[in-house]
Amino acid sequence: MELFIDSADPEEIRTAWDSGIISGVTTNPSLAAKTGLSYRDLVTKILEILGEDGVLNLEVVATDYEGMVKEGTALAAIDERIIVKVPCTQEGIKACAKLSAEGILVNVTLIFSANQALLAAKAGAFIVSPFVGRLDDIEAGSGDDVVAKIMGIYENYEFETQVLYASVRDPQHVENAALLGADIATVPFNVLQELVKHPLTDKGLEKFMSDWKEAGLELPI
Ligand code: E4P
Repeated sequence: MELFIDSADPEEIRTAWDSGIISGVTTNPSLAAKTGLSYRDLVTKILEILGEDGVLNLEVVATDYEGMVKEGTALAAIDERIIVKVPCTQEGIKACAKLSAEGILVNVTLIFSANQALLAAKAGAFIVSPFVGRLDDIEAGSGDDVVAKIMGIYENYEFETQVLYASVRDPQHVENAALLGADIATVPFNVLQELVKHPLTDKGLEKFMSDWKEAGLELPI
């Protein structure tokens, strides 16, 4: 499973990228609005951080078909590492079909049901983003149920669309994403920071260090 960072903050993205565990970034209009940077600067900065290997998901802000196709085409033209996000609406699905047919990679976002993911796959989506945390806000566990259904449907019909487990709230969601076989999980910075932590690791390391010191040993280097 790939890990993306769900952030538009260049500092957070740099720290996460330098850790060597993430392969891409998801942004959305709300995350971009929080940074206080111009959108152009934001995109330039993030692409600089990602080097050649990372992908950057950028969302259209038009809500009509023509507008989404125009914006999606322009965003994709900025850089080959850009994946265009469109919302899962009638117009968004139609725009996904058009953009995908043009060879543009599309992430259909704001997915809350298996049927929405089915339509997105039929429209040639490269990625679908079920929002697990927002579903769980309404009914605990319902987000994972939707992801499991999507995984089953994609397997039944051998769709190549990747499932991106989105709207992650805590480390348990990341574990669930991996257990369900999601292709990608996009994780906010604070949750990424939590993933490595375990109190027994800290306690164990403290003991190793004190035993080593007490014995007066030295590494042969
Ligand atoms: C995914 O691409 C979205 O940006 C994100 O996961 C939304 O999560 P939220 O529910 O925390 O806003």
